[in-house]
Amino acid sequence: MTDFSPRKGMTDLEIDETIEAILAEATLEEKVAMMSGQGFFQAMAEDDRVWCARPYRAGGGLERLNVPALYFTDGPRGVAGGQSTCFPCSMARGATFDTDLEQRIGEVMGIESRVNGCTLSGAVCMNLLRHPAWGRAQETYGEDPHHLGEMGAALATGIQTHNVVATVKHFALNSMENARFKVDVRIDDRALHEVYLPHFKRAIDAGCASVMSAYNKMNGEYCGQDRVLLTDILRGEWGFDGFVHSDWVMGVYHPYGAAAGLDVENPEPIHFGPKLLAGVENGTIEPEVINRACRRILRVTYRFAASEDPVEAYESALSAAPAHTAIALEAAEKSAVLLKNDDVLPLIPGKVGTLAVLGKLATQENTGDEGSSKVRPPYVVTALEGLERASERLGINEIVTADESDLDATREALTKADAIVVVVGNTAEDEGEFIPGDIALGADVPEELRSEAQRSTVGGDRDNLGLRQDQQNLIAVASSAGKPVIVVIVSGSAIMVEEWHESVGAILQTFYSGMEGGTALAKLLFGEVSPSGKLPFVVAKSPADYPFFDKGAERITYDLWHGYTKFDREGIEPRYPFGHGLSYTTFDYRSLKTLADDKAVHAQVTVSNTGEAEAEEVVQFYVGAPGKALERQKKLLKGFARVKLKPGEQRLVSVTIPREDLRYRDPLTRRWQFEPGEYRISCGGSSASLVETTVAL
Ligand code: BGC
Repeated sequence: MTDFSPRKGMTDLEIDETIEAILAEATLEEKVAMMSGQGFFQAMAEDDRVWCARPYRAGGGLERLNVPALYFTDGPRGVAGGQSTCFPCSMARGATFDTDLEQRIGEVMGIESRVNGCTLSGAVCMNLLRHPAWGRAQETYGEDPHHLGEMGAALATGIQTHNVVATVKHFALNSMENARFKVDVRIDDRALHEVYLPHFKRAIDAGCASVMSAYNKMNGEYCGQDRVLLTDILRGEWGFDGFVHSDWVMGVYHPYGAAAGLDVENPEPIHFGPKLLAGVENGTIEPEVINRACRRILRVTYRFAASEDPVEAYESALSAAPAHTAIALEAAEKSAVLLKNDDVLPLIPGKVGTLAVLGKLATQENTGDEGSSKVRPPYVVTALEGLERASERLGINEIVTADESDLDATREALTKADAIVVVVGNTAEDEGEFIPGDIALGADVPEELRSEAQRSTVGGDRDNLGLRQDQQNLIAVASSAGKPVIVVIVSGSAIMVEEWHESVGAILQTFYSGMEGGTALAKLLFGEVSPSGKLPFVVAKSPADYPFFDKGAERITYDLWHGYTKFDREGIEPRYPFGHGLSYTTFDYRSLKTLADDKAVHAQVTVSNTGEAEAEEVVQFYVGAPGKALERQKKLLKGFARVKLKPGEQRLVSVTIPREDLRYRDPLTRRWQFEPGEYRISCGGSSASLVETTVAL
């Protein structure tokens, strides 16, 4: 038997030769077997249906010849296997606008994936937040393609540093949950390329070596077997040379998916396997389709296996190691968005003798969705625990608690409070991955596999974009006490605040803030760190301001307009604009300058900390195109940077915006076009508070 085990340090040439030798020795059946995951259903049954309790074999692998398989673990708020670090959810991390931090988070996920024996990570979720009701909004970074691309590319780079293949998911248009297995998303070429795909391309350009297809259809075809997406765009237009695998069960419906560009069916051979083999044998599928897919899978597998590891040994002590949980804390500190502050925050250490902490969520380990993104950390610091642990340091003598289940007890508790913190929002009951218990897994799924494949979770898309009535009642009671009230919102995306925002002193959105969320909360409320998160989406005053959404849709049209571009176009005033987030200091922006050459616009601005507190600021650069050739978005985020400034300190912040990022997709020629003319460049700490200049390009 020939031994094809990969060796560290193999050159690309050696890898190519090895792959050809494997393809020459492997039988057709063995090659087809490499094109499917295997053992998932059995593992789920044996593991009491605990998702990712062990690594899943997700393609590749040929034991007879010592060819390694790919072993999958999920994300994105950490590594789904083992006792891993639980970071704030992706949407929270989106609010950090901190690509350096996101890359370090990726490195931790890479390390902890390896500790768990995994070489393929499903942590890079980059679907665009088209509507805040999307149940899995928490798994992505926000509504803006540029921002999504930068954050996802950073995470993928970090993960791949440890020779774990990052798969970018779900390709494409997977921005609603309950209907994901059936919905047909209708979209034209321009909206697809300008709004729903650029972030995927950005991650692939950064080296992301794998793509997970989406469940939904695009223009009538399931994405897992769509030649336009998987071959014409991904390989043809973008030059992607990695492999594509399907989402889990119901990601592909026919062996011709392989010819369309799907290389691996996950998690089991349902439509590939024997059916694909038969297709080749009866001549409906070209043998080259199989060789091509195997080459792609093997090339990635061997390149990663041959590359030197930055860590000598991925020992179990590395999982949730103190250095990793410290990064989870940093992310929680940087992601909280201060939506409103009427001089209530920061609370002054030593001045709050009795603090009331209200709400069921204050005592709950509430790290987010219970579906595939669930992480099992060794501990979670709740909001209440975070404040209790910090109470001595912060001079709090007593913490009183109560919740929405007993408003009389709440009133009573509030009598002695000096300040009131109310923790409200969502849990996995309200939003998250949704797999209905009676789901039909496609006519061809063997009966015995069905029950194993059916995970049922609560969650799904939200019907209510506001807070539950009992939580609003709790806020009302808190507000009537005549004390400073701070509302802390836990949620995966926008919560509408119209009914109650005027009655409270401050609102801090922490999202699902991970295993160190409570620790961060105490530091944020008492000014040990200034909030610096910025909204990666717009918060509306009315649900009608968002695009049409129907969680049961069979068919839906996605166009160019959603989020802040839609609000700008229609002149709608948001409650909180995209990019908004207050601080304990103030920043001044001046002297915005641009310099253009034939490749890029270089923009710079001077930012000063004009207040009393040291703080970080997310400097945002937006561009408005001339829009003479055809209607363009009024402004689009095209660059951002995070800076830390001491009181009185000032810093020059600059970004380079490539001209190709300013192009539009011509609907007639289906090509990218650059429109010469006058461009508006604006800059500020939110999309609504900007200094502006123009540049002729
Ligand atoms: C989810 C994917 C996930 C996969 C494997 C699917 O149901 O849609 O995001 O990666 O399960 O866990």
